[in-house]
Amino acid sequence: MTQHDPQQDIWKQQVGEAAAHLVEDNMLVGLGTGSTANQFIRALGRRVQQGLHIAGAVASSQASYDLATSVGIAVADLDTYPELDIYVDGADEIDPQLHLIKGAGGALLREKIVATAARRFVVVADASKLVQRLGLLCPVPVEVVPFAVTPVRKHLEALGAVLTIRQRAGQTFMTENHNLILDCSFPDGIADPVALDARLHAIVGVVETGLFLHMAKQAVVGGADGVHSIQPE
Ligand code: A5P
Repeated sequence: MTQHDPQQDIWKQQVGEAAAHLVEDNMLVGLGTGSTANQFIRALGRRVQQGLHIAGAVASSQASYDLATSVGIAVADLDTYPELDIYVDGADEIDPQLHLIKGAGGALLREKIVATAARRFVVVADASKLVQRLGLLCPVPVEVVPFAVTPVRKHLEALGAVLTIRQRAGQTFMTENHNLILDCSFPDGIADPVALDARLHAIVGVVETGLFLHMAKQAVVGGADGVHSIQPE
């Protein structure tokens, strides 16, 4: 993990603001999770207060639901809005193809479900998230059914992963879907994210992974040289 830099908070605000301006009247909007997505939600709330009319919104976590509701965004669920126009969310790492590692906040499954429901996924981040190769800075979170955790762990170790079962506040972390997260570090990074993701998904008991591949269509990235829009290479 990178060290916290107060300048990053300003960049997160800037990209949140920029992404909120990608939302047009009558769009259905998916809301991501995490500190950068929160800046988007706050900026979208301000636009709604100023008269933007969104047709509806779906949140990828309870925290995002609560924040959105508090800033005046009406949030429903995927049963009400199974197809969305745009999904905006942060990431832990972004490579030049806009392959992502996500899930440091633990919301990866719902994030991937909401991202998949959207025609367009825009990832928002400060420049510290840009990497040439995934997996050198952050582990890949793998959401696992608790009943299967020990056999899944053995399969993951056989793939070269160094594992920890995620903890929070001294307790085993449970996702909103009542699953565990195994954080899988790959000491040399991930040479082929597509192949790794396929192997992870082939393990029975793995519910979802934090590899978001071929999903983001655009990255809005903030750094010392301003806010830039990046397309996949
Ligand atoms: C939440 O589960 C994550 O996928 C976040 O989207 C990701 O960790 C980025 O979070 P920050 O914007 O807080 O860095």
